[in-house]
Amino acid sequence: MTNNRTPPFAVITGASRGIGAEYARALANEGYDLLLIGRDMTRLETLRQELLHENQREVWMESLDLSQPQAAERLHELAQSCRSEISLLINNAGFGMYGDFAEMPQIKIREMLQLHMNTVVESVRLFLPAMLARKQGTIITVASVAGFFPIPYMTEYAATKAFLIAFSEGLARETQNQDVTIQACCPGFTETDFHQSAGHQPKHVVSGQSAQLVVQTSLQALKSKRTLVTIGWQGRLALWISKLIPHSIMMAIAGKAVKPPSATHLK
Ligand SMILES: NC(=O)c1ccc[n+]([C@@H]2O[C@H](COP(=O)([O-])OP(=O)(O)OC[C@H]3O[C@@H](n4cnc5c(N)ncnc54)[C@H](OP(=O)(O)O)[C@@H]3O)[C@@H](O)[C@H]2O)c1
Repeated sequence: MTNNRTPPFAVITGASRGIGAEYARALANEGYDLLLIGRDMTRLETLRQELLHENQREVWMESLDLSQPQAAERLHELAQSCRSEISLLINNAGFGMYGDFAEMPQIKIREMLQLHMNTVVESVRLFLPAMLARKQGTIITVASVAGFFPIPYMTEYAATKAFLIAFSEGLARETQNQDVTIQACCPGFTETDFHQSAGHQPKHVVSGQSAQLVVQTSLQALKSKRTLVTIGWQGRLALWISKLIPHSIMMAIAGKAVKPPSATHLK
């Protein structure tokens, strides 16, 4: 049983780099013990050493491919083996794919659906009941502004992020009087390895947001228990535009912006 001196405990998926690693740094600073999940053990170990050195927190790490069936059960088991009470779950792991959907490898399509949707939903189902029973707990799911409207050439990615926003908003409403916090964090273009890993060369010259700003905004928003969290004025603008401008126009603009040279169908 947790007493007042037991530090809060957070589970972060996709913690080996980018936004997930920044959540780990910020939460270690706030006094959280952590379970870091990713597949790249070298990067996870480097981050773990940094956090141990800077913050003297307890930090566990585990290699887990969250795009595999039963990954949510494994994640829950791992978390329980560290601490019986999980204060914060951050569903952050994700990857991008750009191009003609009809030419995308079926295996990558399946991995994205499993990672962005099935594993997140199943994880929430496993972690949430104990939070509700304790009347304490937070679940942050990292969605994207890409979930605000359909985006050609990122069609599957944008659709999974729209799903995560709808899922988080519905869940937040269901649990609104039960002392748990559900957040869909919706970053815009953020400077991480994400775009390079997805093989995308952004056409715009405006620099993106930092992962630090994304995490700072997300954690700050927990105080007001806001569900849909955007980052900076660009995020607010994207949300506002998505509500005011017809999706047909938004799709034409966004599709042209992300269309890779090899894609042929958008005029
Ligand atoms: N960067 C952006 O512009 C942007 C904008 C909006 C939303 N987002 C979202 O933010 C989240 C984090 O992205 P990021 O920008 O930080 O990208 P990133 O730097 O590429 O990091 C992605 C993280 O996800 C993990 N991951 C990917 N596939 C995984 C799998 N199958 N199993 C376990 N872990 C996996 C990676 O860990 P390993 O490689 O160690 O497995 C890595 O830690 C994603 O959900 C992304 O969709 C990003």
